[in-house]
Amino acid sequence: MIVWLTGGSSGLGLHTARALQAAGHTVIAGARSFHEGEEDGIHHLLLDVTKPQSISAFCERALTIAPRVDALVQCAGILILGPCEETSPEEYQRVMDTDFLGMVRMNQAALPLMRAQRQGRIVMFSSINGLLGIPFQSAYTAAKHAVEGYAECLQMEAHRYGIQVCLVEPGDHRSGSDAYRMHAAAHSPLSPYAEDFRRGTGVIHHDEQHGSDPDALGREIARLLKRRSMPLRKRVASPDQRLAVWLHDLLPGRVNSLILRRYYLRRPKK
Ligand SMILES: NC(=O)c1ccc[n+]([C@@H]2O[C@H](COP(=O)([O-])OP(=O)(O)OC[C@H]3O[C@@H](n4cnc5c(N)ncnc54)[C@H](OP(=O)(O)O)[C@@H]3O)[C@@H](O)[C@H]2O)c1
Repeated sequence: MIVWLTGGSSGLGLHTARALQAAGHTVIAGARSFHEGEEDGIHHLLLDVTKPQSISAFCERALTIAPRVDALVQCAGILILGPCEETSPEEYQRVMDTDFLGMVRMNQAALPLMRAQRQGRIVMFSSINGLLGIPFQSAYTAAKHAVEGYAECLQMEAHRYGIQVCLVEPGDHRSGSDAYRMHAAAHSPLSPYAEDFRRGTGVIHHDEQHGSDPDALGREIARLLKRRSMPLRKRVASPDQRLAVWLHDLLPGRVNSLILRRYYLRRPKK
């Protein structure tokens, strides 16, 4: 298969690109930090998913490397951690622009090609945070929830043209780079949220550092592309994170909130 992949320079995108290449696919990966060339059998192209011109240039160049696109795997994403009260509208916009609208733009570039071929696969990286919220990740959570709803609509519309859509919902994986985990500019140690923020982001950081194996996730995506029919949702998470989603859907909202607050924000007894 000819696979276009976004966010191929770091984290799960990088591990997925390697796994797809190892599985025999032609991988054309894009990222802002890439220069054109080939590394370890993976084609690198410059791509900024927030810029329409960059997307057009990526597509044109990719089509000269291989004249079709069988699968689009979207991994590009950023995270801005901050209290809701202190995350600016511009910061929300920035996360939405990359994590949600970036996927929309890439899909709009690939869909006409896939429709003409009457086949194609679109894999979008959501997150467990596309299914439930946790403290201080509101911008990311909102963007991933948007991706979840959008993918359901796209799947129904594109099905007639032989195009399959799949949301990958990873739990914590020990792969992401701190360069993409920014803090809201307005947050400071003097903030009324400072102690909770320190505690909550400490738990988030710890869980990522001790998260699942990113290579295993890459192989999971390779298996996904080999399947005749992809599921709409593929959750790749540890048993406790699966349980958290299950409880979120089952329990009353305030009970779920109590559990998550105790997990992320509990202060030691004095
Ligand atoms: N790691 C986890 O535990 C985890 C859990 C759940 C979901 N996810 C999802 O998995 C995906 C990868 O996350 P990660 O944490 O593993 O990776 P990461 O280390 O945070 O890497 C992010 C990637 O996105 C690219 N990127 C950022 N902005 C971009 C833009 N405007 N245009 C093109 N590329 C852009 C970066 O490349 P450049 O800077 O070179 O452009 C980089 O390759 C994300 O969608 C994330 O939400 C990750």
